This record gives sequence, structure tokens and C-alpha cells, in this order.
Amino acid sequence: MCGITGFTGKVPALPILLKGLESLEYRGYDSAGVTLVTEDALFTQKRKGRLADLESSMDVPSFMQTTGIGHTRWATHGVPSQLNSHPHTNEKETISIVHNGIIENYQSIKEKLIALGYVFQSDTDSEVIVHLLDHYYQGDMMEAIQKTVQQLNGSYAICVVTTDHPDEVYVAKDSSPMVIGHSENGSYCASDIPAILEYTKDVVILEDGQMAKLTPNGVAVFDFAGNALETKVTHIPYDMNAAQKGGYTTFMEKEIYEQPVAIKETMRGIIDHGQIHLPQLDAVDMQKIQYVHFVACGTAYHACLYAQALVQKWLGRIVTCVAASEFRYGNYPVNENTLCVFVTQSGETADTLAALKMSKEKGAQCIAVTNVLGSSISRYADQTLYTSAGPEIAVASTKAFTTQLVLLTLMVFDLAKKEGREIPDGDAILKDLQRMPEIVKEMLEKAPLMDQYAYFLDNQYDAYFIGRQMDYVGVVEGALKLKEISYVHADAYLAGELKHGSIALIEKDTVVVALATEPSVAAKTISNIEETVARGANVILITTQQQDAPGFKNVIRIPDIHPVLATIPVTVLLQLFAYYAAVHKGRDVDKPRNLAKSVTVE
Ligand code: AGP
Repeated sequence: MCGITGFTGKVPALPILLKGLESLEYRGYDSAGVTLVTEDALFTQKRKGRLADLESSMDVPSFMQTTGIGHTRWATHGVPSQLNSHPHTNEKETISIVHNGIIENYQSIKEKLIALGYVFQSDTDSEVIVHLLDHYYQGDMMEAIQKTVQQLNGSYAICVVTTDHPDEVYVAKDSSPMVIGHSENGSYCASDIPAILEYTKDVVILEDGQMAKLTPNGVAVFDFAGNALETKVTHIPYDMNAAQKGGYTTFMEKEIYEQPVAIKETMRGIIDHGQIHLPQLDAVDMQKIQYVHFVACGTAYHACLYAQALVQKWLGRIVTCVAASEFRYGNYPVNENTLCVFVTQSGETADTLAALKMSKEKGAQCIAVTNVLGSSISRYADQTLYTSAGPEIAVASTKAFTTQLVLLTLMVFDLAKKEGREIPDGDAILKDLQRMPEIVKEMLEKAPLMDQYAYFLDNQYDAYFIGRQMDYVGVVEGALKLKEISYVHADAYLAGELKHGSIALIEKDTVVVALATEPSVAAKTISNIEETVARGANVILITTQQQDAPGFKNVIRIPDIHPVLATIPVTVLLQLFAYYAAVHKGRDVDKPRNLAKSVTVE
């Protein structure tokens, strides 16, 4: 997820580009760059680091060019570096592009272009676009773009400029966002509304399969066949601050609602006709592996609990799941016959990094699962799998967690397949996984209900989450989410353990969130829950469509999906529950007290 800006008009472009990129830094910030255009030349300045670093390296007022494009990067292919930064230009320096998205078939395109004599400067997927444009360009850039996008599989929003038409900016969009607008000073394009809201509140939100030509006098929209389309203008009622949050109140709310897209992007290019493509795992020889350890902190640790359950189901092995702060000091068996999997959204958590380094020293094979390309963990691990959740700004992890669950499911599934193991209901599980974006959308529609349930906590200082088997993952994560943003004390219990002591805590109006999505033990869990009801608890039950739940007032039923995947929709419901509890209590949802987004100290 990157930030793109473009402008052409009657005033200098650079200040507009930089200010626009600044408003989009929540979309990515590992590197930044701009290209300014005149009929004589392109001027491209780009570098690794924050936008401020780029800005400080340029004497902004001296640049008078009135056309340009800009980019702030969230790396997906090619670690953050000067060469991998955008914009990318053709060898003749007559065309420059910026791209947001993932080109799935870039390798095959790159091979063809190299065979045609093109020389690549970067490791990115995006660079294939500028060389395709160079290959197809015969004077009409719109035509060259039409031919280029026909070659691309994946997601993209691109901006193009050329010295041949120095007062034009071209955009094309499929599966990544692009908005355009016009004011008396010129025409604007950007990945998201905040970048142009200062200049116009009337924007055109491009749809998939659309392209546009921007000139100082206006914008024109076309389909990919070149047919002119009517420009549908949307008036944006909210201000810049709200716009950076996509119109949501907080980054956390926005990131909760980004989960369908984040999950879809994470799976992009991995599942193809029922087969999983995770080449990073080809180096793992499970026949040699005696021990498997999952190691992480916080919410990422909960994702490891989920992966541990899958390994035990599908790989028939007992595995450990250990908090990194314990693993690095514990006496766990780690040697050359050990596979260690480290899960970390930021890729910078000190305990997790230290645990990995220790494991490497002991000869283990180390796989990292992270959301940040080029992060420290990805540099130390033998192999790295990436979630594609985009930057997660809110301290409380939401989309990173659900994309970790999806990626870990695919990872364990692939390791089992590599061992020649049959996965019970394997095809059904993959089908349900591919439906997950829709399933999560269905859960998000229950937000008003979770908002109502969150009022149960109004006069409560404690809440209890209970469940069995894989529901326990939802239980611990749901409790953590509630604690860290609403400051309500929440405990997580195995439902079967309640009667061994903790039920002494239950009294009238105690809030109990009960998960019963595992058909094999749902009835037992429900009988555990009935014990809390008998003591006056206010129970919110999350269960399956089929499960009988007589006498329960507050029941939410998740869609019919394979039980091993139930944690994902359950998690979305509990994120909303925690979110509304925090809102009702007036908490700083994006920046809860005492917490940091990435714990880079012990
Ligand atoms: C999640 O809501 C928390 N903010 C926290 O537990 C977080 O998951 C933990 O610090 C691990 O961070 P990481 O995934 O970046 O390693």
C-alpha cells in the first residue's frame, strides 16, 4: 500500500506533490520520490527514508516545473533502497511512472523485456510498467497505457508522465485506489482523498478498469479500450484529518474495515487452482525437522497459538508456542533439526529478534512472518513470508493479526502438502479461505450489534472470555484487544477450566464473552457457559449457524465456514466489541496509554 500524487497546472508542482505525499504517509513511508517534467527533461529525485528526508535534500522553491508525480513507498517487492524507490524511469529518461499495488506476473514480463534488451535498475515489480510503456509508446501515451495494462495481472494504480507531453499526467487503475480532481490551478491525482482535499472537495473516484488524462484545464476519464466515460464527481464532506482515516473516526476503525482488502491482498498470488505457491518454504525439509517452535509477542503470539493448533492437526507433530521473552531465556531444544517460526507485524520487536538470533546461532532453520518488507526480522531470517496488510498505524493490531492467521494457515497447509500429508477437508478449507474477504465483510456489518453489546461494560471493570480448542485463540486475542484499548480488565479462560476456580469471580451482570464455534466441543462449552448464566452473568455467545443455544439472549452466529477458520470472523467481531467499549469510555483508541506500536526494547 503506497501513496501516489500527481499534478499538472499553472503553479509549481513540487510543493503540491510533497504536501500530498505527506498527507499519505500513513500509506507507506520506507522511501519517497518525485519526478518533475519539462519538454526538455525529467527531473527525478528519490531516496530511502521518510518523506522529510527527501524534502530536506531538495531546494523546493527553486523547482518551477508545473507537472509532476510523487510516491511514498510501502515495499512489497524489493527492500527499501534508493534504486527500489519510485518513480521509475525508462532508459531514455523520457517516461516516468509511480505505482501502488502488486504486479503478480512481473517476473515473466521482466524476462521478456530483458530479452528485448531492456536493462532493469531495481528489484521491484513496478519497474516492468515503465519499460512496457517504453516498448509500446509511439507518440500516444494513452494507447501505450492501454497496451501495457493488458499485460498486467494483479493490482495497480499508476501515474505516468512523459517529456513528449509535459503538461499531461496519465493515470490507470485496477484494484488499487486512485482519485482525481480539478481546481482553477490545475488537475490532481492521488491514491487517496487527503492529498487533494485542500484543493478541491469534488473528486472523481476512479473505478477498476478506468484511466484518465489530466491537463491544466481539466480531467478526462476513459475505459481501458479508450472509450470516453462520464466523470462522476463525489463531494467530500469531511476534513483532511478525517480523510486520512478514510472518513473513519480513528485509524483503528479504518484498519478494522480494511481487513477484507488486506486479507485478499495477503492471499494474492498464493492460491492458484487449489494449489499453494509459497516458494520460501521450498527450503524447508520437514523430514529433517524434529522440533517446531512458534515464537512471538502479544497479538502475534496469539497468531502462533493458532498456527500451533494447525501444525498439530495437519502435521501430526507436537509443537511449542512460546512468548519470545520466555523463549530466549528458556531451555527449549533448538538445533539443526529445529524449525523456528517468528511472527511479528513490525519485524522490529526486540524479544522476537533476540529469540531469532539465538535460534540461528543454534543452527535452527528460521522463518519470519512479518508485515514490513526490509524489516530487521526479514534480514535475519532464512526465509520471510509477508502479510500484505499495509501499514498498521493504530497501536492495537487488527488487520495484521487476521492476515497473519490467513498466511499461517497457508504456510502450515503447504508444509503438510510438501510432506505428502492429506489435510482433512483441505479443498473446503482453501475454498473458505478464498471466501474470507466476503465473510469478514459480513462480520463488519454486525458492528451496530457489537456497539450495543459494548454497553454491557458500562459499569463493569472486568470481563471474561471463554472458549475451548481453537476458540481459545479468539478468547485470548479478544481479551487482549479489550484490555489494551478500553482499559477494562479482561481474562481469558479455557471453558473447561472455569469450574476449577475462576468461576468464583462470576456474579450478577459479570460480562462473559463465550466462543463456541468448534462443533465437536460446542455443546460442552455451552454447558460451561450455562454455569455462568446461573450465577447471573451477562453472556455474549458467538457460535455457529447450527448450534442450539436455548435460553441465550445475546447470540451471534458466524457464517458457515470450516471450523479451523472460525477464529478469523470471531476476531473481527471481538475487535469491534473492544473498539466500541473503548469509544464509549472515551479512550484514545489509536494511542492507548502505556503502549507503543512496536516494542523495540526488552
Ligand atoms: C497488539 O494489539 C499489541 N499492540 C501488541 O501485543 C503487539 O502485537 C506486540 O507488541 C507484537 O508486535 P509485533 O507483531 O510488531 O512483533
